[in-house]
Amino acid sequence: MKVLVTGGAGFIGSAVCRYLIEETEHKVVNVDKLTYAANLESVALVADDDRYAFEKADIADREAMDTIFERHQPDAVMHLAAESHVDRSITGAGEFIQTNIVGTFVMLEAARAYWEGLSADRKDAFRFLHVSTDEVYGSLGDEGLFTEETAYDPSSPYSASKAASDHLLTAWQRTYGFPGLISNCSNNYGPYHFPEKLIPLVTLNALEMKTLPVYGDGSNVRDWLYVRDHARALLLILQKGKLGEKYNVGGNNERTNLQVVHAICDTLDDLRPADKPRRNLIEFVTDRPGHDARYAIDSTRLQTELGWKPEENFESGLEKTIRWYLDNETWWRPLREKNYAGERLGLLKTG
Ligand code: NAD
Ligand code: DAU
Repeated sequence: MKVLVTGGAGFIGSAVCRYLIEETEHKVVNVDKLTYAANLESVALVADDDRYAFEKADIADREAMDTIFERHQPDAVMHLAAESHVDRSITGAGEFIQTNIVGTFVMLEAARAYWEGLSADRKDAFRFLHVSTDEVYGSLGDEGLFTEETAYDPSSPYSASKAASDHLLTAWQRTYGFPGLISNCSNNYGPYHFPEKLIPLVTLNALEMKTLPVYGDGSNVRDWLYVRDHARALLLILQKGKLGEKYNVGGNNERTNLQVVHAICDTLDDLRPADKPRRNLIEFVTDRPGHDARYAIDSTRLQTELGWKPEENFESGLEKTIRWYLDNETWWRPLREKNYAGERLGLLKTG
């Protein structure tokens, strides 16, 4: 297969590119606009492979997308390009509407036109996987899990834009018979994670003995999945998933934010002892507006129908991740110096 991956210079997209080149025989065309969140260093390990190609382009640019489909003749699309950070969507939703909704619309139209023109057997085999999030389901109370049947109830501009793009995919499938699938995944973590997100931000701040901002009282729960397990799930869904279906992806690793921050502090205290316990650096700060209380995924469909299961548990995955940041300062140092220095994002102006 030749797979067109959008957003392949981002956190999860780069893991997908590396996985496809390192662990399979497939070819990859990475299409990425290279926003602040992108880093081509994240695909440096595979960039010289004959099976890998890169195109710098905006998914909302129809002409560019038509040219790329025509030039590369992909057999499938994995669509990950998006604005992904909730706090930035609170500060300004424009880019989220433009890339996540308009961009997905343009991708769907370009892919549909290309698909319509394929020979019968290639048309039959073509698939488009839209990579989405569990945040479209909104917030859970203390009990229960998100299933594929849970009604959409997004809270943030980011999750509303992802919900809109999911609905577009479903409509294209029902209306045009377009061969689409959707995956809804929980919080990913692992190497090459941009340091605006909780785990890399706290890891790097803790390493540098800076304060560790915990929103509210730290009791919000997320369900963590190691990024390579997500990449494996995505290929499985692309190849074996039932067209028109949704698949939830999650690691069964519910943790409060405070538990996560404690685990990072304790691991770093072991690996890089400091003059005081890093838990002392925790600072409880103003909560995120519209902060969802709890996410937790039921991934039974993916496990029973497609035979997926995560290989990494949270403890092993977190230690691997922290060790990766310790060993890869050349990857994150320029991002902290030029792209994002760790300041608080997503607060509403008062007064
Ligand atoms: P990321 O922010 O790390 O990377 C996004 C990538 O998309 C960047 O390389 C960026 O340059 C590219 N991009 C943005 N706008 C673009 C445009 N208009 N045209 C082309 N490229 C563009 O995001 P991520 O965390 O890797 O998330 C990838 C996808 O997975 C997103 O769709 C996100 O909604 C979804 N998702 C993320 C998580 C998570 O925990 N990070 C969980 C579930 C689902
Ligand atoms: O659930 C999937 C989603 O996970 C993806 O769709 C998003 O793209 C991805 O960014 C992630 O969203 P979250 O908002 O859950 O991730 P974030 O790392 O921003 O925050 C995780 C939790 O930690 C959340 O409850 C807010 C809290 N937090 C975050 C930061 C950055 C803090 O307490 N302090 C912080 O400094």
